[in-house]
Amino acid sequence: MRENPYYGRMKFVQVLTQAALKVRGSMLSDLGFLKPLKTESEGGVIPICPLKASHLPGIKRHLLGLSEHDRYLRFGYTANDEQVLRYASGLKFDRDEIYGIFTRKLHIVAMAHLAIMKAPGRKSSAEFGVSVQAYARGRGYGARLFTRAVMHARNEKIYEIYIHALSENARMIRIARKNGATVVRDGSETEAFLSLPKRDLDSRVTELVVDQFAKTNYSIKEDAKRFWDFLSKVEEIRQGVRAGRHQSAE
Ligand SMILES: CC(C)(COP(=O)(O)OP(=O)(O)OC[C@H]1O[C@@H](n2cnc3c(N)ncnc32)[C@H](O)[C@@H]1OP(=O)(O)O)[C@@H](O)C(=O)NCCC(=O)NCCS
Repeated sequence: MRENPYYGRMKFVQVLTQAALKVRGSMLSDLGFLKPLKTESEGGVIPICPLKASHLPGIKRHLLGLSEHDRYLRFGYTANDEQVLRYASGLKFDRDEIYGIFTRKLHIVAMAHLAIMKAPGRKSSAEFGVSVQAYARGRGYGARLFTRAVMHARNEKIYEIYIHALSENARMIRIARKNGATVVRDGSETEAFLSLPKRDLDSRVTELVVDQFAKTNYSIKEDAKRFWDFLSKVEEIRQGVRAGRHQSAE
């Protein structure tokens, strides 16, 4: 069968259109004029931001917010607060990719770490780790973070992504399997390997667009947060003035 020559461009145009509509929608919702955006599982798009060192306090807060059992699933052992903080402080933002999904108040509700392994003379590979706050599970965040990481890895000429999960971690294994990974179970531990196709124009342009969309969404949330913080300060001052008037009238 002949390949549709417009297929790659169609995908790009769809992403672009969806992103433009989304920016408008998120602007109104972040300013409180619309209901919050739908999640991916409800048919919406999820903005995923590449994180920088300046996000470290938020990353720490997110990881410390995981329960003991979640830490066990995420790190393979029940990491205490000190170990969690050591992990966060050791993140290599210049080498790896770290992604976050933010709430309207700019809290990190879900994050992923793609640890990139490059060695001279060897094919590059990467390890994927992820965590979603318990209240936000089942919305597709884990799966979306994985596809975002796959897109980046592909564009970085990484040939394989690896996931280490505990065999009891049905959700993580489901995400890996659904994306075509080979899943190998060894008792209580499971390893998943996903070979990546070569990058192409579509994968590169799509990454640029989704990145720009996520950055715009983030800066709208920042502006909205500043706006609401300002309003609550004004309200605080008004209440202070009113209380002062009452006191001086007594
Ligand atoms: C694993 C984790 C990241 C998944 O995040 P999530 O946002 O809830 O995942 P998603 O909503 O994308 O759902 C993933 C899939 O699991 C499925 N799922 C949900 N509950 C499930 C269950 N109890 N058993 C099997 N599959 C389940 C979902 O239906 C979905 O599959 P679908 O797309 O075919 O419907 C999250 O549970 C988590 O943070 N766990 C603690 C840390 C961890 O385990 N990290 C992974 C180790 S690196």
